[in-house]
Amino acid sequence: MPQLSNRVMTFTDSVIRRMTRISDEYGAINLSQGFPDWDPPTEITDALAEVAKEGPHQYSITFGATNFREAICRIESERFGRTVDPKSEIVITCGSTEAMMTCMMTVCNPGDKVVIFSPFYENYGADTILSGADPIFVPLTPPSFTFDKAELEAACSQPGVKALILCNPSNPCGKVFKRDELEFIASLAKKYDFYVVTDEVYEYITFDDNEHICVASLPGMFERTLTCNSLSKTYSITGWRLGYVIGNAEAIEAARKVHDFLTVGAAAPIQEAACRALNVLGPDYYADLKAKYQSKRDIFLNGLDELGIEHTNPEGTYFVLIDITKFLQLDQFKGMSDMDFCEWMIKNTGVAAVPGSSFFREPINHLVRLHFAREDETLYESIRRLSKMADLLK
Ligand SMILES: Cc1ncc(COP(=O)(O)O)c(C=O)c1O
Repeated sequence: MPQLSNRVMTFTDSVIRRMTRISDEYGAINLSQGFPDWDPPTEITDALAEVAKEGPHQYSITFGATNFREAICRIESERFGRTVDPKSEIVITCGSTEAMMTCMMTVCNPGDKVVIFSPFYENYGADTILSGADPIFVPLTPPSFTFDKAELEAACSQPGVKALILCNPSNPCGKVFKRDELEFIASLAKKYDFYVVTDEVYEYITFDDNEHICVASLPGMFERTLTCNSLSKTYSITGWRLGYVIGNAEAIEAARKVHDFLTVGAAAPIQEAACRALNVLGPDYYADLKAKYQSKRDIFLNGLDELGIEHTNPEGTYFVLIDITKFLQLDQFKGMSDMDFCEWMIKNTGVAAVPGSSFFREPINHLVRLHFAREDETLYESIRRLSKMADLLK
């Protein structure tokens, strides 16, 4: 048998998606892979039904159907604080997953360095490896997941740094980057001349008075930021695989080439259906989405508090990290990894989670990620199930 590429030996399959498969095997409540269990807005599903009859059913323009690009740019222009040109500053992709990979292939040469905050969404590790770049990790320190400015500058000033990957709001730690933090990152990007590749799929899911700020909206940053985003989370359509990159015309022209040869394009009928819905959903939709997730966060975190399970306090996203240190000290769990513990949870409590180690560069074994994008009843049932686990500490 000829050998497979060296590249595929350097990373594992996605732990998140693996946990979903194990969860399904045992019929657990899946709080591992983050996707909602409710239907998308009827404006979207009705449009899909119409488009099934009316089309289009053939390829769209490879970098995205004109009307869909226009719809996204209209919405995003407000957030970017400038008019985003649908003709030259956007490419439609198959989800933010492809958007990130497209950006990395567009920006990086083999051997370039990429700064990544740890913890990080696991795709970024593979994106970096597949684009031939080498990651430099900079820790975000709990409980507020702040970074040390000197440490970040030391990483960014290394020769060969081509990009910094930002996830804002951040999966898995729920951090929403503050204006002064973004300004500092922006100042480094200018000083050391690198791109910021930012993943903003949770832009509408922020809590309390935490405000999401697009790094590309800061002075002088549109030119050196590639913003990846998606319809997956905002419209509860993770299976539709619609995303996009927004950036300066020169970078987008290059990204369009990468995207074309990776996928040709996102599904044409899906773009048309999404476009029709985006054109009728108003500001209320986004306000309701935010309120819905705020309420779910409160239900879930209050439940964890009542059980005495220690956890992070997410400012955005729909993820929470619980601390399993006290469980791992019990005789029955001694020597277990966080992965073993998650498997134990699936089999014994019927709740699936993701081992925290898959998000951290540091040797972390005491955190487990759960998500709360579930109907309220399912969240209450999850808390009931987790109480069996919490009882072990009594
Ligand atoms: C930070 C982050 N980026 C991207 C994705 C995937 O987005 P998409 O469905 O658009 O590929 C996820 C999904 O969980 C995510 O958490």
